[in-house]
Amino acid sequence: MARRAGRICLDGLLIEYDALLAGAVFIARQACSNGHVKKKRGTDMIVAANWKMNPALDQAAVLATALASQPFSEIKRILFVPHPYLVPMSVRLTGAPLKIGGQDCHFADHGAYTGDVSAGMLCDCGASTVLLGHSERRSAHGESSDLVAQKISAALAQNLDVVLCVGETKAERDDKKAEQVVIDQLQASIPDNTPPTRLTIAYEPVWAIGTGAVASPDDIGAMHHIIASVLSERFGANALPPILYGGSVNAENAGSIFAVPLVGGALVGGASLDADAFAAICTAAQLASRNAG
Ligand code: PGA
Repeated sequence: MARRAGRICLDGLLIEYDALLAGAVFIARQACSNGHVKKKRGTDMIVAANWKMNPALDQAAVLATALASQPFSEIKRILFVPHPYLVPMSVRLTGAPLKIGGQDCHFADHGAYTGDVSAGMLCDCGASTVLLGHSERRSAHGESSDLVAQKISAALAQNLDVVLCVGETKAERDDKKAEQVVIDQLQASIPDNTPPTRLTIAYEPVWAIGTGAVASPDDIGAMHHIIASVLSERFGANALPPILYGGSVNAENAGSIFAVPLVGGALVGGASLDADAFAAICTAAQLASRNAG
């Protein structure tokens, strides 16, 4: 593994690159073969942070350290961090009960794809999971569900778990096409032979992302019911992947969202950049998890 040596400053801690990368690759291999977090399905709630293209590295280090110190043993927590942060966050969170994931991957193993990263590269840099099909990639990068399916296959081949995002735009909801859009996205994005234990779905209405306009519990419940039916047809009723809600989840509304039947957790954008807000959402998930169990 020939890498250039260097130094990185994390929260005042100076780490040598080559040692850091060697450690991170070791952590990554462990993550891929064992999982950072005890693998349990069923009533476990999942709270996933989507940092998007935020924050600056020094703030990310402080945030990750705060999250690592928060005791949430009854839920699963995932951090989807910017790709350049995978290694430093993996090092910083060694031993912490948090999974680390990438926010996208390419469908190919390697090749002339400037600016892209492969699923294997994510794995080598400490990721044990990947977020795919987010609406910001579908809209800003023109990603179709067919392409998302190819990316999922690539991720699964590298033993990465997958969180697949689906959701309708405001225009599609106004046109009463929301259900059909989500059904089509699910059917076209999930490749054949996907093991349900490796998949999580995040229902994120596009109009609710980053807007403060959270979907109502009734709308969330209705869409989760439809998603569960599609998944049940594909995988069987006893092997349903978890279904998260995403879109303006915050400390105040998390409890009522988690009370909706079939909501298995949340994908959190803006509020995940604040350690206290994220902790409040995790507390609500832990309570919901206890009530369900
Ligand atoms: P938001 O983002 O919580 O800021 O609405 C959610 C997401 O895009 O995953």
